[in-house]
Amino acid sequence: PAADTGPMSKLGFQAVAKSTADTVTLASGYTATVVYALGDPLTADTAAFKNDGTDTDFERRAGDHHDGMEWFGLSSDGLPSSSANDRGLLAINHEATTDETRSSFFLHANGGTATLPRPASEVDKETAIHGISVVEVKRTGSTWAYVKDSAYNRRVTSLSEVEISGPARGHAQLVTKYSIDGTRTRGTLNNCGTGKTPWGSFLTGEENWFGYFTRPVGDDAARGNDKSVTALKRYGRAEGATSRHGWESAGSADIYARWLNAKTGTSADGSDDYRNEMNGMGYIVEMDPYRPSSRMVKRTALGRFAHESAAFSLPKAGEKLAVYMGDDARNEYIYKFVSDNAWSAADANPVDRIATGAKYLDSGKLFVAKFNSDGSGQWIELNLAAIPSSYTAYTFADEADIRINCRLAADAVGATKMDRPEWCATHPTSGEIYFTLTNNSNRRVAPTAGSTTQLAPDSANPRAYSDVKGTSTQQGNVNGHILRVKEGSGGGAAVAFTWDVYLFGAQSDADTGLVNLSSLTADQDFSSPDGLVFSKSTGICWIQTDDGAYTDASNCMMLAGIPGSVGDGAKKTLAHSSTLSVDTFLGKAPTADTLKRFLVGPKDCEITGLVETPDGKTLFINIQHPGEGTKMADIADPSKYTSQWPSNAGYGAGKRPRSATIVITKNDGGRIGN
Ligand code: FEO
Ligand code: CA
Ligand code: CA
Ligand code: CA
Repeated sequence: PAADTGPMSKLGFQAVAKSTADTVTLASGYTATVVYALGDPLTADTAAFKNDGTDTDFERRAGDHHDGMEWFGLSSDGLPSSSANDRGLLAINHEATTDETRSSFFLHANGGTATLPRPASEVDKETAIHGISVVEVKRTGSTWAYVKDSAYNRRVTSLSEVEISGPARGHAQLVTKYSIDGTRTRGTLNNCGTGKTPWGSFLTGEENWFGYFTRPVGDDAARGNDKSVTALKRYGRAEGATSRHGWESAGSADIYARWLNAKTGTSADGSDDYRNEMNGMGYIVEMDPYRPSSRMVKRTALGRFAHESAAFSLPKAGEKLAVYMGDDARNEYIYKFVSDNAWSAADANPVDRIATGAKYLDSGKLFVAKFNSDGSGQWIELNLAAIPSSYTAYTFADEADIRINCRLAADAVGATKMDRPEWCATHPTSGEIYFTLTNNSNRRVAPTAGSTTQLAPDSANPRAYSDVKGTSTQQGNVNGHILRVKEGSGGGAAVAFTWDVYLFGAQSDADTGLVNLSSLTADQDFSSPDGLVFSKSTGICWIQTDDGAYTDASNCMMLAGIPGSVGDGAKKTLAHSSTLSVDTFLGKAPTADTLKRFLVGPKDCEITGLVETPDGKTLFINIQHPGEGTKMADIADPSKYTSQWPSNAGYGAGKRPRSATIVITKNDGGRIGN
């Protein structure tokens, strides 16, 4: 039998095959159970979820599209505990909702209204199913369940009040009708990856928030084609671009009108001004899950972009803390924040976690990564002094403007444009930082002349062919890769690093010269890595996929890896064409003992979010948007839903598919993956 403590050198389970079945397929010897699904009540007096589109009160139910998640242990008497294995809080992101055209159709009786205007009754449900849950979970005997009436249970939505903190607090670009002094905003939105601070609070990243807003045709001219127009376009909102759900159409009340970024009157004091609403989104947000009534805070020092996770450097007393972050869009960047204050171990369990957050996350430097072709790299600080005079696309007013519009600042300094940075995670012993680069179908050996979206491969994003359908002609890095960084001298505060690529996603039968560079076998092959979390107990690197290109072969999955370290492999030259060769740096190839598929999810889902109990014996993960490919027109016919999970696994009423948290245990009571 394998050891019950300490890092593992060899995975102890049998790999599972790829699958397209509408079920959770799990390595043998393990059990998975649903514990918390869309609509589950969070108070004793909320009605059971009927799952037929008539349910309301989502401010007191589980939200939709469970994503990143963190664990906050509770002792048997219900107090914060870092060693508890039987009771704790899950803080869970509810990123988005399954829609086809505007309507979140599984939440409405007849599928809802896809045309404008949207009814307020539908919009009220949809704004409430976004945000965050804090939910207590508890083990009784060998059975885990959520605690319906826990005093810790909490929902935050896209309309909850959140405080603005850090350099952008009170800035002119944060002034809205809701907060004319620019210190507050409403809601957190499209929460994707997560993080947990060394002082025990929850961090959540706001990702594709811009798609929920719109601005009228003619807005560019109404703004005088000023720099705000440049910023809005850089963050994905051209004038007249339609919003994802049309929430702005539901009425003139502030909670609807805010989604249309415009000035509605002529006042000079901001009291009729919604133009800056979008600037209140796009941050890392901090919450103390142990205090259900505590305020939430947007930490603007960490920059504004399409945030995923926030991974800390290993905290060392007397050293500054680094927070690593990815901006998930094609050709965006990898960032690092370094605190001004050095870590004090006395802050590990503070009385006021949000006050401690201000100490470490409100003042510090923001850096962006540049990857070189020799395996080295630099962290380039983003500040006014770093913006070259040759950069004229945008004029930064002050340091806060750089944090609010850091994509533009990163453009100005020439950082490396990456293949969609999703999660990052810190190796629990080496401190090396791993980044999933989920895919970029626009990498091209010969980009179309003048294209701003197609880029040629470079060393850190070296692939330009995909081969997912068994041909070697499909262009783009459709399968993604996992890059890792080893900091140079200075630890988290270092400005130089080395890097290599831990794994390239690929189909196992793909060409090993240009596509299957990690020589993955059928027990290991995957595409589009997204969620990435290390176990502190076993050291396993859990890799979760979000894959559109691979669904002919398998539903999304989770793999376990035991990686080595930066530089343990060799240089590899990719001969793309007679005129283009790219050198990259490949980590040591995985073996059958160091990389295996552990789980495959039900149909049309993404696997995301992972926490474990400190003993490594209980794992919680999220099944996000099963049945996402269902057509709204088929709402009345469950046989046409592309998934009926989790009702087909015996959980809950109705056949409409539901995002859910599942708990995984080993049947012999051992550690997961051992
Ligand atoms: Fe919400 Fe980039 O995944
Ligand atoms: Ca993600
Ligand atoms: Ca993704
Ligand atoms: Ca998703």
